[in-house]
Amino acid sequence: MRAPIAVFDSGVGGLTVVGALRRELPAEAIVYLGDTARVPYGGKSQKTIERYSEEIASMMVSEGAKMVVVACNTASALALAHLRDVLPVPVEGVIDPGVRAAIAATKSGHVAVIGTKATVGSGAYERGLRAACPDIRVTSIACPLLVPLIEEGMFEDEVTDAVLRRYLSPLRETDADTIVLGCTHYPLVAEAIGKALGYELALVDSAANCASAVARRLASEGLLAGDGEGSLDLGFTDPPDRFLGVAGRALGLATAPAAIRAVPPLGS
Ligand code: DGL
Repeated sequence: MRAPIAVFDSGVGGLTVVGALRRELPAEAIVYLGDTARVPYGGKSQKTIERYSEEIASMMVSEGAKMVVVACNTASALALAHLRDVLPVPVEGVIDPGVRAAIAATKSGHVAVIGTKATVGSGAYERGLRAACPDIRVTSIACPLLVPLIEEGMFEDEVTDAVLRRYLSPLRETDADTIVLGCTHYPLVAEAIGKALGYELALVDSAANCASAVARRLASEGLLAGDGEGSLDLGFTDPPDRFLGVAGRALGLATAPAAIRAVPPLGS
């Protein structure tokens, strides 16, 4: 089916998922919407996150999307059930794929999860990890300053390094051997995370696992695009200029995506 897959995030972080989707499903048309006017979602209430997510996703569905990918851990943790209730198309998030990858990676049975305040506060990763493996130990750390630093493009920066050292220092006292990057922005600072930890930990980024889950879902629903060349359209709720560098890096794109459009404001 040639209709596009809709992918959304609060900002640019979900582009890490777009990169994985493009690799896994090169024939698909992908439409991405970053809610740059209202980023970050991570400190907001469940009600607000549900409302923002529904506004964004239903706009994309009304434009013909065949499936919605919630490329945001915060929206996946707090609004996935709501979106599945209100949308007429399949909806995939990033938490379950991240859980599966973490379970596969850990040998010590102790997994660290880093994410926004809302994601960590929701307990969604703990619930998922415990449901899959009841004996697992989980240390979750909220990192609220990271999304703004990443949206500013401060990937290699001493301020980001210092913030990461502060957030990650409690992990040194534990035998956690796996860390879930529980925010789609964080793969953009994966190197800085490794440096701040100063020792080896398996880094779980749910993007690739999410892309495989999307591929399976499209196949089981008979919605795959088939052969041909895919496409990518990017939209943002606020002018995207300052995000283009970040977008290029997230996607590993040498050139700009096919189309970048500004979406009319959605209200606050
Ligand atoms: N990329 C979003 C996530 O995965 C960022 C959250 C935010 O907007 O605070 O959680």
